[in-house]
Amino acid sequence: MDKPINQYAWWQKGIIYQVYPRSFQDSNNDGIGDLQGIIQRLDHLQWLGIPALWISPIYPSPMADFGYDIADYTGIDPIFGNMDDFDELLTELHNRDMKLILDLVPNHTSNQHPWFIESKSSIDNPKRDWYIWHDPLPDGSPPNNWLSVFGGPAWEWDENSKQFYYHAFLKEQPDLNWRNEEVKQAMMDVIRFWLKKGVDGFRVDVMWHMIKDKQFRDNPVNKDYENHMADYEKLLPVYSTDQPMVHDIVREMRAVLDEFGNRLLIGEIYLPVHKLVTYYGHENKGAHLPFNFLLLGLPWDASVISSVIDEYEGALPENGWPNWVLDNHDQSRITSRVGFMQAKVAVILLLTLRGTPTIYYGDEIGMRDVPIPFNEVMDPQGLNMPGKNLSRDPARTPMQWDDSLYAGFSGSRPWLRIDKSYARENVAIQKNKPFSMLTLYHKLIALRQSEPTLMVGDYKPVYSNNQMIAYIRHAEGSSRFLIVLNMSHRPCYFKPQHEVFTGQVVAATIPELEDMRIDGDINLSGDEGIIIKLDN
Ligand code: NOJ
Repeated sequence: MDKPINQYAWWQKGIIYQVYPRSFQDSNNDGIGDLQGIIQRLDHLQWLGIPALWISPIYPSPMADFGYDIADYTGIDPIFGNMDDFDELLTELHNRDMKLILDLVPNHTSNQHPWFIESKSSIDNPKRDWYIWHDPLPDGSPPNNWLSVFGGPAWEWDENSKQFYYHAFLKEQPDLNWRNEEVKQAMMDVIRFWLKKGVDGFRVDVMWHMIKDKQFRDNPVNKDYENHMADYEKLLPVYSTDQPMVHDIVREMRAVLDEFGNRLLIGEIYLPVHKLVTYYGHENKGAHLPFNFLLLGLPWDASVISSVIDEYEGALPENGWPNWVLDNHDQSRITSRVGFMQAKVAVILLLTLRGTPTIYYGDEIGMRDVPIPFNEVMDPQGLNMPGKNLSRDPARTPMQWDDSLYAGFSGSRPWLRIDKSYARENVAIQKNKPFSMLTLYHKLIALRQSEPTLMVGDYKPVYSNNQMIAYIRHAEGSSRFLIVLNMSHRPCYFKPQHEVFTGQVVAATIPELEDMRIDGDINLSGDEGIIIKLDN
C-alpha cells in the first residue's frame, strides 16, 4: 500500500461478482433469467457486500453460443428484457453505490449480424473486409490448418462467393477483421454508447484472439496433446492468437474508456503468466485487469499454488494491479474441482490475496457442477465434442435461492436443470445457518471491505510446504494479517521460524477456530484455514 486508501480506484478496492443472466433469476416465468430478475435479486448482492457486478452478454443474439454471438451491439435481447429494463438495472445499481461491468465481445459477431450479412453478400461489398475472408488453396482446401475452439476446422466455406471465412469459435460466430480501420471505429462507437449510458466498465471476451497472423501461417502441432483434450489443443495457437498488434487495439480501447474516466477494462486472456502480464500494456495503458486464471488451471496443491502466487506477483509490471479468479461460466465450479471443504479454503485465499477478486454467482452457497444428461446438453462445446465431458452447462445451472419448486429461480421449468440438492443448499437456508458457505462469504467480504490492509495492502509470503501456505498482508498504519491455509485433508503444523506471531483469529473455515488466540505455533486440522489479525 503506497498511498492512502481513498486514492485507490473502486475496482482496486472492490470485488467483482459475475452473473450469468440466463441462470440468475427469471422474472417472467419463461424458464430463462432476465434483467428484471437481476433487479429483484440486488438485495442479495447488496447484503453480501458486492461492490461491482459483471453480467455476461445480454445483447440481441440467435443464442448459438448463448449470447456470445451478438447480432446487435447496442440492443437488448427480448429474452432478457428491453433497454428500459437495462436502464433501470443501471440506476438501481448506482443508487446502491454498486458498479456495472458489461461483457464486450469484439472478436466476433453472430453470423446474423447485419455487418456479416452484408459482408457475405458479395466479394465487392464494402463490408467484405470487415471479416476474415480467404481464397481456398489451389486444391480447394482451407487456407491453413487453424482449428475452431469448439471443434473442427476454423474455416467455413461460402459457396456463393467461393471463399472461406474464419471463425475461432462456432461457424455462427465469424471473426471480425481488426486490421480494418472501420471495424475498429465501429466497435469504439459501441464502447462509447454504453459508457455514455454510465456503464462502469467492460470485460472483453477473448482479448488475445483479436489479431491473427497477417500471413496466416499454419499453427504448429502440440506434441503434448492427449485424447481427452479438446480437438483445438491438437495445435498450438501460435499464429492465430496473441499477435503483437493486439496491444495497439487494447491501448485504443483503454484510451476510449479513459475519455470517460473512472471506468474499468478487464481482458479475458488464457495465456502463461509472462505473456498475460504484457496485456497491462506499455506504461499500464492496456487492460486494467488482464484476468488471472492461474488458480483454475492448476492442481490444488499447496506447493504449486504458493509458487504460482509468487510467480504472478513477481511478474506483474510496476503498478500493474493483480486480480484472482476461482472459476467462471466456462469452467468447472470451484466446489466441483476441489470439494466442498477445500472450497472454503479457496474462498479465504481468493478474498485475502492481494488484488481484485471475481466471484462467480452461486459459489457463495457452494453450488457444484450439475450433471446434465446427454439429451439435455445445450452448450455447443459439449455438443460438438461429445464424450469428452467438455460441456460448460454443468457450471451454468440456475441459482438456488430457496426450497420451492425450481429453487425460487423461476415459476416454470428452467432452461437447464437445477441441482438435486437445491432444497438443502440454497440462499434462504444458508442465510440462517451460522456455519454455512454463505455465512463464510458474507463474513469474509465484510472483513475484507472494512480492512484497508486486506483491500489494498502488500502481500508477503511467509511459509509453504506440500500441505499449507501462509502469508502476511500488511499496510502502513493499518492492522497486519497472517493467513494460514491447510490445502490438504490431513493436519498440518506451522512453526514460524523468524517471528513469534500473536493475534486473534477473525475468520476461519469452521466456527470453532473463530476468536481463538494465537501465540506461536499453529496447528490446523485438514481443510482448515484461518485469518489472524496480528497484535502488531
Ligand atoms: C469466451 C466466453 O467466456 C465463452 O463463454 C464464449 O463461448 C467464447 N469466449 C466465445 O465468445
